[in-house]
Amino acid sequence: MKAIEIRNKYLNFFKKHGHSVIPSAPLIPENDPSVLFTTAGMQPLVPYLLGEKHPEGTRLTDYQKCVRTNDIDEVGDNRHLTYFEMLGNWSLGDYFKEESISMSFEFLTKELGIPAEKLSVTCFAGDANCPRDDVSAEVWKKVGIPEERIYFYGKDDNWWIAGEEGPCGPDTEMFYDTGKPACSKDCQPSCDCGKYVEIWNNVFMEYFKDKNGYTKLAQRNVDTGLGLERMSMLLQGKETPFDTELFKPIMEKLEQLQKQDYIESRRIVAEHLRSSIMIISDGGRPSNIDRGYVLRRLIRRMIRHLNKLQINLDELSTLIDINVDNLKDMYPELENNRHTIKNVILEEKDKFVKTLTNGEKEFEKEIKKLQETSSNKIVGEVVFRLYDTYGFPPEVTKELASEHGYEVDLKQFDELFKKHQEKSRQGSEQKFKGGLAEQTDETIAYHTATHLLNAALKQIVGKDAHQRGSNITSERMRFDFNCDHKLTDEEKKAVEDLVNQWIKDGLEVTKQEMKKEDALKSGAECMFIEKYPDIVTVYSIGNVSKELCGGPHVSNTNQLGTFKIIKEESSSSGIRRIKAILQKD
Ligand code: SER
Repeated sequence: MKAIEIRNKYLNFFKKHGHSVIPSAPLIPENDPSVLFTTAGMQPLVPYLLGEKHPEGTRLTDYQKCVRTNDIDEVGDNRHLTYFEMLGNWSLGDYFKEESISMSFEFLTKELGIPAEKLSVTCFAGDANCPRDDVSAEVWKKVGIPEERIYFYGKDDNWWIAGEEGPCGPDTEMFYDTGKPACSKDCQPSCDCGKYVEIWNNVFMEYFKDKNGYTKLAQRNVDTGLGLERMSMLLQGKETPFDTELFKPIMEKLEQLQKQDYIESRRIVAEHLRSSIMIISDGGRPSNIDRGYVLRRLIRRMIRHLNKLQINLDELSTLIDINVDNLKDMYPELENNRHTIKNVILEEKDKFVKTLTNGEKEFEKEIKKLQETSSNKIVGEVVFRLYDTYGFPPEVTKELASEHGYEVDLKQFDELFKKHQEKSRQGSEQKFKGGLAEQTDETIAYHTATHLLNAALKQIVGKDAHQRGSNITSERMRFDFNCDHKLTDEEKKAVEDLVNQWIKDGLEVTKQEMKKEDALKSGAECMFIEKYPDIVTVYSIGNVSKELCGGPHVSNTNQLGTFKIIKEESSSSGIRRIKAILQKD
């Protein structure tokens, strides 16, 4: 069954059950600068979940365009997507658990024809704020799910809230058994071995959470969400969403055009192109901040992977057409916006090509250096730097090199690349270290910015805002610190401004070795004193920051670019987490 048929069946089914079909809200939330993109069907409906009357009544259904960007770097595997469509139905103080579950079961088994034996469900196990959801479990039994396929989990799995504050409640989730063998005798829906795939989430929203805790809402709501790409994939018996008709034409075209064969790159191009098209069609434009920055990253990452596949960038226009043609039945607005979409993507491509051209200049410099030696080989480190900093595929370096009569050490490049991957992997496993998993110009800059952020938080938030952890990649920094409240917009702005002021001031970064006790006496910051040997290195930045640290750092803060906080969230109780970036251009 094609995605569009699933969507139509869904909307018709809920229409038959008294729901009004409402249009998808735009991907870029109206009047809500606090979120980047619409991430769930309930997001545009929050006022109505809180009690405002919806003009279309108390039963609603829609398809919602969604973008979730936390996992951009995971795209390329067999399941992550940044853009997806969520089918949803809502009760605004109308029906509750019994009717909601019965309708879901009927839709899955009768309309989509999924055998009941393939379904398992999960319910909320209960905690101090909300009792165990035996009501839902009883309804599941009544409709035909045997007890052994009903699981109870805690807040991590069976509680839903968008962010940290707002309407929320226990949920019941439906899982599809793919028929793959169980990974162990304990394999169950919460396991991510791939046997069970979550297909639908019904949230029973009767609570409201704010910083003081949970209160009951004036009305009991239902909010459900079903991921369309995933359902299409399962019903079509495919292993990945990229094998469905949603991506097939573009995947095939990429395969036909490519000169190098990388499945991950084809997926990244197909996925990021679709996402970019949908965002631009809803008014998004590339820029250096917020939404625009996400869009820029999507487009540039796609271009890097087109390069990796060795597909001529002149093909981009055709690739956009293929996507628009493939998706316009589902999203008729794409046809009207085809021109704009093309202009925006091609313009961004040109800008990025310029950046890449700078890479070529770097390449020329390396050649000049080589000409002064007797070597005819470009070392792997240079190939890697061109790849890592300028997005220059090693194959391109090799080709250019051979035009100049040089060889490249691809073997050494591969080793460095593997090492780099391993380090990023360790980084993403969040092992506690100095926070610096890999050393590139970017990560070194982020490291210095981390010290500035640490110092700025002490001035703006309070001297107890001690560092509790940090993690750095070449694309962003993450910093955890003690703090008992969500930072206000004013606080965030003040922290940003202070860090940027210090960057502008061009402060020298200096390094000194001294006895640990002297370092502490001099007021140097340090997270875990026991971790350090008797003689320590202290890094000072002007007179604004002094920390025990292994380095490395930039030599002057004027090398950092513009500091920007992109996220501030809770990390765990009493600890806040900031994600920030340094913008170069
Ligand atoms: N809001 C819930 C989700 O996003 C159900 O729609 O999963």
